[in-house]
Amino acid sequence: MKKKLDAFNDKKIKVPFVVPTINSSDKKEVASALSSNLLTDGPNLRKFEKNFSRLTKSKFSIGVSNATSALILSLKSLGISKNDEVIIPNITFVATANAVLSCGATPILADVNYDDLNISTNSIEENISKKTKAIIPVHFAGRSCNMQKIMSIAKKNNLKIVEDCAHSLGTYYKKKHVGTFGDTGCFSFYPTKNLTTFEGGMVTCKSNSIAKHIQKARNHGIDKSLQDRFTKGYPWEFDIQNFGYNYRLDEIRSALGNNQLKRLKNMNSDRRTAAKYYDSKLKDLYGITLPSQTDTSKNSWHLYVIKIQKTSKTSRNSLFNFLLSRGIRTSVHYKPLNLFTIYKKTAKTYSSLNISKKLYDEILSLPMFPGISRKQQNLVVAAIKEKLDHNRNE
Ligand SMILES: Cc1ncc(COP(=O)(O)O)c(C=O)c1O
Repeated sequence: MKKKLDAFNDKKIKVPFVVPTINSSDKKEVASALSSNLLTDGPNLRKFEKNFSRLTKSKFSIGVSNATSALILSLKSLGISKNDEVIIPNITFVATANAVLSCGATPILADVNYDDLNISTNSIEENISKKTKAIIPVHFAGRSCNMQKIMSIAKKNNLKIVEDCAHSLGTYYKKKHVGTFGDTGCFSFYPTKNLTTFEGGMVTCKSNSIAKHIQKARNHGIDKSLQDRFTKGYPWEFDIQNFGYNYRLDEIRSALGNNQLKRLKNMNSDRRTAAKYYDSKLKDLYGITLPSQTDTSKNSWHLYVIKIQKTSKTSRNSLFNFLLSRGIRTSVHYKPLNLFTIYKKTAKTYSSLNISKKLYDEILSLPMFPGISRKQQNLVVAAIKEKLDHNRNE
C-alpha cells in the first residue's frame, strides 16, 4: 500500500516553516497541572492572567479558548450587532472577518500599506460610514500599526477599537505593549504563534465593565467562578444576566502558557536575531524586497515576509515550488479577504483594494521560529539566490 504523505513529518523537509517550542519544563508544568483536581477555571488560569497583565501592563487580562473567541467577546462586549459596520484590513487571517460576522455585523475591508502590510489609515478614513462602529487593526507579522493615528481617527469619529494582536505578543508601539491602546486587545496562542498553549487566547482591557462582561461571557454568562460556587452556599445558586459561551481556557493550557511566558523574551529575541540574519544575507539580492526596516526593535517578528518584484522574472508561486523542491517550507499570509467566496457575499468596501491585490502576487513568508539554525537559514538564502539568479540569466 502506498504510504500517505504526512506534511508535518516529511523527512525531505530540511527547513520547516515553523517548529513549536515545547521544552522539558513545559512538559513538567503540564504534567503537574494534569494531576490537579481542578482542571479548568482554577489557579493556573489566574496566575497566567496575572503574569500576562504584568508583561503587557494591561489592567485586566482574561484567558479564553482562542483569539477568535477573544475577538467575538470583545465585539459583543462593545455592543457590536446587526446593521453595524466594522473596518478590518483586507490582508488578515479570516478569523478577524468571521468574528465580525458572528455579531451579525458587516466587515468593511480597508486596504493595507505596501511597505509593512498593516491597515492603511487613509483607507480606514475612506471606509467610515454612518454605520461604522469599530475598527480592528491587526498588528501584522509582529509589527505595530500606527496606533497614534488610528486612535485619533477613532476619537474623532466616536469608534471603538479592538486590536487584533494574534501576531504580536512582545510588540511595542512607542514603548507601550500593543493591545493596551484600544478598548481591548486579542492575543492568540495557536501553535505557530510567539507563545503557544496549543489552542488559547487572551483579552486585555482597561475598563472594569468590559472585563466583567467578558469574564462572565466566556463562561456561559455565569456570575461566579467554579471555586466560589463550591466554597460558599449552594454550587447551583448562580445567576446569568447576559448571554454567554463556553470560551474558557483550561488549567493545562494555562500552566503551559505561564511557563512559556518566562521564555517569551528569549524566544522573541531568537526571532529578532533570525530576522537580522535574513536581512543581512538577502539585502543585496536583485528582485526581492525585504520587510520594512522601520522600528524593527519593537517588532516581535511573528513572520518574515519578503516581496518578489516583477523585475525578478520569478513569480511568487514558482519560488514557493522551487524552495519546496529543496526541502524548504514557506507560506503566504494571507490571501486577501475580498477573494473568498463568503466575503464576496458578506463583506463590503468603500475604497480601492489595489495594494492588497498587488501584494497577494508578491508576498512569501520565509521559515521563522525560535531556534532556527544558521545552517537552515543559509539553505533558505542559497535556494532563493539560486532561483533568482537562474531566472535573471535566462
Ligand atoms: C491575525 C489573526 N487573527 C486572529 C487569529 C485567530 O486566532 P485563533 O486561532 O487563536 O483563534 C489568527 C490566527 O491565526 C490570526 O493570525
